[in-house]
Amino acid sequence: MTDRLLELFEQSNGAFLSGEELSERLQISRTAVWKQIERLRQQGYRFEAAPRKGYRLLAKPDIFDLPAFIGKLQTERFGKHVKYYDEVDSTQTVALSLVAEGAPEGTLVLAERQTAGRGRMGRQWHSPKGKGLWMSMILRPKHIPLSFTPQLTLLVSVALCRAIRAIVPVEAGIKWPNDLLIGGRKAAGILLESSAENETLQHIIAGVGIGVNLEPDDYPPELRNVATSLFIEAGYRIDRVELLCRFLLEWEQLYALYHEQGFAPIKLLWEALSVSLHKPIRCQTAQGLVDGYAEGIDELGALAIRLQDGTIRKMYSGDVEF
Ligand code: BTN
Repeated sequence: MTDRLLELFEQSNGAFLSGEELSERLQISRTAVWKQIERLRQQGYRFEAAPRKGYRLLAKPDIFDLPAFIGKLQTERFGKHVKYYDEVDSTQTVALSLVAEGAPEGTLVLAERQTAGRGRMGRQWHSPKGKGLWMSMILRPKHIPLSFTPQLTLLVSVALCRAIRAIVPVEAGIKWPNDLLIGGRKAAGILLESSAENETLQHIIAGVGIGVNLEPDDYPPELRNVATSLFIEAGYRIDRVELLCRFLLEWEQLYALYHEQGFAPIKLLWEALSVSLHKPIRCQTAQGLVDGYAEGIDELGALAIRLQDGTIRKMYSGDVEF
């Protein structure tokens, strides 16, 4: 039924179709027409509804162009195995099952929509259809101690920040540990889930969510003042294929550098892109609030906060406000 409805809107060339006309042509009630339109809205179609005029189709969902992505990708391994889904609960969960099946390093899980996207600290991650890049990458780092995991988190945020700055004319910055902010609002987030044996990392599932083409109405009210998208900041639609190709290339190159030279060069890059260093901050941790001055990050990637009494406290996870 939605196919037939879409056909009518396609034929109308952007003109309004009244509820009455749609109900007659489809032989369904006007309530059923409204329900079908709501269903299409859930799938990323945008309609204008006007009293006495009816509905008109404003925009269709942006479908990720997988063949173009495969053709443009310049990496050696990252994204070369790609699993693309229209809808999943969470790409993290799908990636975990692929790890169990022996999927190689660089395997990428990408979904148009997540119904149960996960954020850090047990939060939900809003992942509407066709509007973002919702992905998880499988990494199998070589001989890296578990305690180095924060370094890899910071590495991903550097790659992401560099890619966004290269493709979109915006001043993206990193808030410790790995939130991507533009103008103080969050445009992307990173979640690393790992497993270890004998204190050595076995695999990492690096989940990355980038708000690419969300419009203000795509956010639930509680996110509208704190989140943003590249579209909102740049003022035009961003090509998801181009952004993803650039991100994976930056990431693969930094990951190779990390295996060759360790964390030191990544730390320098992270510090240069950070917006949360050298200022008074408040860090919310599982143990409570810590107020102090953000001095820097240490060689493991932990945040060093100078407390009022002058002592330094290292934070390995938490949420920073400034
Ligand atoms: C954060 O809280 O900032 C991290 C958000 C990570 C979201 C991404 S979207 C793709 C992947 N799948 C998930 O369920 N979460 C991550």
